[in-house]
Amino acid sequence: MKKKILTIFGTRPEAIKMAPLVRALEASSEFQSVCCVTAQHREMLDGVLDLFQIHPDYDLNIMAPRQSLSHITSRCLLGMDDVLEGSKPDLVLVHGDTSTTFAGALSAFYHQTPIGHVEAGLRTYDKYSPFPEEMNRTMVSALADLHFCPTGANKANLEREQTSGTFFVTGNTVIDALKTTVVDSFHFTDPILNELDFEHLKVILVTCHRRENYGAPMEQIMMALREIAETFPEVSLVYPVHLSPVVQETAGRYLKGLPRVHLIAPLPADEMHNLMARCYFVMTDSGGLQEEAPALGKPVLVLRRETERPEAVKAGTVKLAGVNREDIVSLASELISSPQSYEEMARAVNPYGDGEACRRIVEGMMWYFGLRNTKPEEFAPLART
Ligand code: UD1
Ligand code: UDP
Repeated sequence: MKKKILTIFGTRPEAIKMAPLVRALEASSEFQSVCCVTAQHREMLDGVLDLFQIHPDYDLNIMAPRQSLSHITSRCLLGMDDVLEGSKPDLVLVHGDTSTTFAGALSAFYHQTPIGHVEAGLRTYDKYSPFPEEMNRTMVSALADLHFCPTGANKANLEREQTSGTFFVTGNTVIDALKTTVVDSFHFTDPILNELDFEHLKVILVTCHRRENYGAPMEQIMMALREIAETFPEVSLVYPVHLSPVVQETAGRYLKGLPRVHLIAPLPADEMHNLMARCYFVMTDSGGLQEEAPALGKPVLVLRRETERPEAVKAGTVKLAGVNREDIVSLASELISSPQSYEEMARAVNPYGDGEACRRIVEGMMWYFGLRNTKPEEFAPLART
């Protein structure tokens, strides 16, 4: 009988990064794929499910406006009981560091079901930054049996922490997804994007949503963006605004109506990836964008104080800009005005994956269940191109 693998996810980034894995499980002859979404996100999740044609077996539909962390965790946990009792999986797969991830792993533990953690081992070692993600992923590491680490540095973190279980270095599944979405000729659904002059304007792609940036840091970021747009006539900002009411309100207050600033709705993942491939550089507090942009040769200024993704910083494609207006403006101005600074950062590097992460994860699970003799080879990034 095929081993049954239950994948659990709930937010946009988890869905983008789990979609290629669900497809790989569906295509495998060794495993039966069962998919549960918590719908911690609703619209932003559904867009990804549509794009990758994933049809979940279970949908907990938990999202509420301005939901609290306790709301998400408790509703996920309660909903997951029925799913685990009904589906009786041989292994549960969770992804990353959201509240869905933590509740999914905790529920699997309560049901004494083995846990595979995809995107394991990322750390800042700062309990409140990112909040609550740093503790979510740390607690999931304590619960998981199989740790699918994107990079060697992620695995080294888990080894240093003396985490129990088996480690794999797979690359990040987001690079698997990216390989299916970016194309030379792409038609955007939003006319604003089709009409943007990517040749002559320096288009900066912006996203910002992190909970620890709510309040003063997010206001500093928005003031910086406004100053950049007002200072440089050759720049256009494109900012697909996260549906969180806190983010919508703050972005609208500082940026709405400014010339050459486009506040647009969240984009489907294929549109986002193709916009990223065409932009000049990226300013973001997102985790996923820090992984995707380097693979596309786009410089990234990270709108946070630290990052759990140091690989692309070391490679030179990503810089930590922090959350102070002046620091952000200064780094962005340099990238806009100095071709040399720009060229130094704008080189394609692939520290996060080679597009083979899902294969390695499937093979890792086959090894775990005794369906193959060897673990998959570890992902090793190529030198800078
Ligand atoms: C969540 C994750 C974060 C991840 C981010 C990706 C937690 C605690 N946070 O943060 O790790 O980086 O997703 O985007 O797990 N909303 C909608 N429609 C949607 C999605 C969100 O209306 O499709 C609104 C709702 O009002 C919701 C709010 O956004 O209450 C915030 O969503 P939530 O999942 O709580 O937090 P995120 O900031 O999205
Ligand atoms: N993304 C998207 N549309 C958008 C903004 C982001 O498809 O309008 C994608 C992005 O390309 C990446 C993922 O969503 O794959 C990142 O999600 P997010 O920034 O919400 O979360 P994080 O990665 O910070 O957890």
